[in-house]
Amino acid sequence: MTGYKGPNRVFSGIQPSGGMHLGNYLGAIRKFVDMQHTHDCYFCVVDMHAITAWQDPKKLRDQTFHIVASYLAAGIDPRKAAVLHQSAVPAHAELAWIFNCVARLGWLDRMTQFKDKAGKDKERASVGLYTYPVLMAADILVYKATHVPVGEDQKQHLELARDIAGKFNREFEAADYFPSPEPLIKGPGARVMSLRDGTAKMSKSDPSEQATIYLSDDADAIARKIKKAKTDPEPLPSETAGLENRPEASNLVGIYAALSGKTDAAVLKEFGGEGFGKFKPALAGLVVEKIAPIGAELRRLEADPGHLRSILMDGAARARSIADKTVAEVKEIVGFVV
Ligand code: TYM
Repeated sequence: MTGYKGPNRVFSGIQPSGGMHLGNYLGAIRKFVDMQHTHDCYFCVVDMHAITAWQDPKKLRDQTFHIVASYLAAGIDPRKAAVLHQSAVPAHAELAWIFNCVARLGWLDRMTQFKDKAGKDKERASVGLYTYPVLMAADILVYKATHVPVGEDQKQHLELARDIAGKFNREFEAADYFPSPEPLIKGPGARVMSLRDGTAKMSKSDPSEQATIYLSDDADAIARKIKKAKTDPEPLPSETAGLENRPEASNLVGIYAALSGKTDAAVLKEFGGEGFGKFKPALAGLVVEKIAPIGAELRRLEADPGHLRSILMDGAARARSIADKTVAEVKEIVGFVV
C-alpha cells in the first residue's frame, strides 16, 4: 500500500516482563534513540501485552518504571519522544477489539511466537497470548505509525499488522486509511543470542542468569558473564564465511560489531586467528564501556519513581490526543453510532 498520505510516525514497544538486556538495547532501544531526532516518536511500555503471561502485580509497576528508566538512561528525551504505558491509552484496547474482528484465525494460527510461548500445553495459554499480535497491530495503527523499529523476532508480527491494515482498508472501502507499517529490523544487533547457547535468542526469561547481559549489570557482572560465555575451541576466522556453523563465535563477533559500529568483517580483520582468550577481554572491555554507564544512570533514575510516573502521564496525554482521534474515525468507518 503506497498511497498513504499521512505523516511519517514511529511507534515501538517493550514488555515490562523482566529486566532490560543487551538484545533489547541493540535490537530496539538504540534505534529509538536515533529516530527521536528525525521522527515523531511514540515509545510504549506494553503492560497489557505483559499480562498475557502471569505477572506478579507487586512487581509489574516497578518493571514498568524499569523500562521507562532504561529508555531515558539510553538517551531517549521525553520532551522529544512521547514515552507512555499502554494501559493509560484505552484506544489501544478499543482498536484491538475491532482488529480481532478483522484478523482471521488462520493468520494467528501461523504465529510462531505463540507456538514457542504456549509450548506443548496450548490449552492452558491465555486467550490474550493468542490475540497478542492483534493488540500489537492496534498499538501501531492507532497512531497510524509508518515505521516500527524492532528486533528480528518481531518480523512475523509486523507482517500481521500490515495484513490487518490492508484488510481493514479494503473491506471498509477506506482506501489508504491505515498505512502499511514498515518494520525497521536490519542492522547489527537485530538478533542477539544467549551467551550460553548461540542458537537461542537472548531473552528476559532465560533460566540461566549467565545467558543474559542486563542493562543493570555492573562492570564486574558483565565481565564475568563474557568470560564464562560458551565458545568453541577454534580461533576466530579471518573472514565471515568462517563463522558459519559457529553460532557462539558468530554471536560474540556480532555483539562486538554492533557496539563498536564496525562490520563483522572488520572485527575479524582485527581479531582473525586469535583465540577467545584474547577476544573475550576485548569484548568485555567494550561492553563495559558502552553498557555500564547506562546501568548506572538506570539505577539513579529508578530511585525516583515519581519522576518516571510524571513522564508516563505526560506521554500518555500526548498519545491520547492522536489515538482517540483514530478510534473516533474508525468507529465512524465501521458504522457504529457516534
Ligand atoms: P519484547 O518486550 O520481547 O522486546 C522488546 C524489543 O527488543 C527486541 N529484542 C531483541 N532484539 C535483538 N536480540 C534479542 N535477543 C532481542 N530480544 C528482544 C524485540 O524485537 C523488541 O523490538 N511484541 C513486542 C512488544 C510490542 C511491540 C508493539 C513492538 C508490543 N506492541 C508494537 C513494536 C510495536 C515484544 O514482545 O517485545
